[in-house]
Amino acid sequence: MKEPNKFAEQVLDHTKSGKLLDLGCGLGADAIFFAETGFEVTALDFSKTGLEALKSRKGALAIEMIEADLKDDLSEFKDSGFDIVYSRLSLQYFSHDETSKIFSEIKRILKPAGWFFFMVKSTSDPEYGKGEKLENDVFVLDGYFQHFFSKKKILSNMTGFEMVLMEETKGELTTNHETVAWKIVAKKL
Ligand SMILES: C[S@@+](CC[C@H](N)C(=O)[O-])C[C@H]1O[C@@H](n2cnc3c(N)ncnc32)[C@H](O)[C@@H]1O
Repeated sequence: MKEPNKFAEQVLDHTKSGKLLDLGCGLGADAIFFAETGFEVTALDFSKTGLEALKSRKGALAIEMIEADLKDDLSEFKDSGFDIVYSRLSLQYFSHDETSKIFSEIKRILKPAGWFFFMVKSTSDPEYGKGEKLENDVFVLDGYFQHFFSKKKILSNMTGFEMVLMEETKGELTTNHETVAWKIVAKKL
C-alpha cells in the first residue's frame, strides 16, 4: 500500500477531525490516510482508474467516492458543507478563469474557519516556460497542461482566507525531485 504524502501528514499539525474533501484524489493514498486517522472523507477525481484503485484499496473504510470534474461539478456541493478541503497537485490543470471559479467554489463549500490545504506547481519550477504558451503562466508540454503559480497569483485567489502557511518546496515529490511547488495552508475567515 502506498504511503500517504508528507503534505497529508502535515494536515494533522492543524486539524485532526471533520468532514474532509480530497479534490483530485488520484489513487487515494491520502484519502485512505485521512479516513484511517478519523476524518469523514469524500474523495473526488475524474479518473475512473484512480477511483477504482481507491475502491480496491480502501477495504472497509467509509470513504465517499465521487467521479466528477472539479471545474464543473463543485456546484453539486452545498454551502459550508466541509471542514477541510485538501488538494495535492490537482488545481494546476485549469485556465485563469477556471481557476478563479474553482477557488471561489472551494471557499463557498468550506465552513467558516474551515481549512484549505493545497499544493500547486510554482513559477520557479524548472518546467516553467517550456512548451506552448496558452496564457500567462499556462503551458502545454508534450500534451500535458500545466498552470504554474506565482505568489501573487495564489494570493489573488485567496481573498476571504487567512494565510497560515505559504512555502515553496523542492524535492518533496517522489516522481520528480526537481519539482518546485507551493504548499499552502489557509483558514477561511
Ligand atoms: C498529480 S495527480 C495528484 C493526485 C493526488 N492528489 C496525489 O497527490 O497523489 C492529479 C490528479 O488530479 C486529477 N484531475 C485533473 N484534472 C481534474 C479534473 N478536471 N477534475 C477532477 N480531477 C482532476 C487527476 O485525475 C489526478 O488524479
